[in-house]
Amino acid sequence: MKKLWKNCHIATMQNGQYSSIEHAAMVTSGQHIHWIGTFEDLPADAYSETIDLNGAWVTPGLIDCHTHSVFGGNRSVEFEKRLQGVSYAEIAASGGGIASTVRATREASEEQLLASALKRVRCLLKDGVTTIEIKSGYGLDYVNERKMLRVIRQIADTLPMTVRSTCLAAHALPPEYKDQSDAYIEHICNEMLPKLHQEGLVDAVDAFCEYLAFSPAQVERLFKTAQSLNLPIKLHAEQLSALGGSSLAARYQALSADHLEFMTEDDVKAMAAAGTVAVLLPGAFYFLRETKYPPLDSLHQHGVRIALSSDLNPGTSPALSLRLMMNMGSTLFRLTPEQTLAGVTTHAAYALGLQETHGTLETGKVADFIAWDIEHPSEIVYWLGGDLPKRIIQHGNEISI
Ligand code: NIG
Ligand code: FE
Repeated sequence: MKKLWKNCHIATMQNGQYSSIEHAAMVTSGQHIHWIGTFEDLPADAYSETIDLNGAWVTPGLIDCHTHSVFGGNRSVEFEKRLQGVSYAEIAASGGGIASTVRATREASEEQLLASALKRVRCLLKDGVTTIEIKSGYGLDYVNERKMLRVIRQIADTLPMTVRSTCLAAHALPPEYKDQSDAYIEHICNEMLPKLHQEGLVDAVDAFCEYLAFSPAQVERLFKTAQSLNLPIKLHAEQLSALGGSSLAARYQALSADHLEFMTEDDVKAMAAAGTVAVLLPGAFYFLRETKYPPLDSLHQHGVRIALSSDLNPGTSPALSLRLMMNMGSTLFRLTPEQTLAGVTTHAAYALGLQETHGTLETGKVADFIAWDIEHPSEIVYWLGGDLPKRIIQHGNEISI
């Protein structure tokens, strides 16, 4: 059953550029793209359906490659405190921060977590996100990490989106392991991760490498276990200080290292050599009122792929619009709209290891795309939030939102 999508322009995003085809058409067959090109070159064939896109600009479905969308409660009171002058690190040290979300997440049932997460993820879907990564990391024990990961799988069963689940058990130290961070890492490596993986709940492993979380040596221990389980690796690195986490991630061929404000030139070189994607998170940068920028010139110069993501989480980036994050990423990190769009399509696909199937529009790839009612693709980055008119197509089917 082939469908013809006609009367559109397409930004295929191949090679990290618009790579536009004007006066284009696309043929989908089931979940995949069967043919793409100019309308003039459309081969004669029989179609079960012809859809007129009325001159829209078509892009790949957006990919939000770093989120913590599942959590209990929220941290608006902490936001208030921070604006009265208390820092994120101080709040964390006094039992707030991630620890307070851990308490709320442990108290919530699977059903409650699913209901609250679905509301947030639906906002992203309505914004044009068809692929999302979601991390655990607010459970911090087997039962509660499992609960979060099961909710992530249920989101995949409920919404028309591709959902990747990442185990972030090494996000913070749970109260049960106070002053015993090595023992907690051993517990993750010997018990939690192998079990959760065996239950089919884990697509990748992440950790928070930071002075207020886990050391590079502890993260390396976790990476070795992930490697032995054949699980891809990601890392929160260099967000608040320079510990060399991004170089470590590169040494272990991580899919991505994320945040990166404090990374050094040597880290950049290591990531470039390993093909590890740099995921920049403008929401967290903005919300924590950071002043130290990631080394953007150096990242460009060494050819590191740059992805952008919402980092949707209750503490540092309560962001419900990826497009708003795109505008902020573009403005704050001086990325052109074209680079920004690449950051949430092709480069974000690399950050999830999905580059063979997602992230660009070409024959054989999954038919996830957005038909935007705009004059030029730069408009997707230009507008600050709002509801940009669009049609969302996932796996070859138009979604009603
Ligand atoms: O990506 N950096 C660590 N993790 C999250 C914040 C989590 C939280 O504060 O709840 C982040 O910014
Ligand atoms: Fe994060």
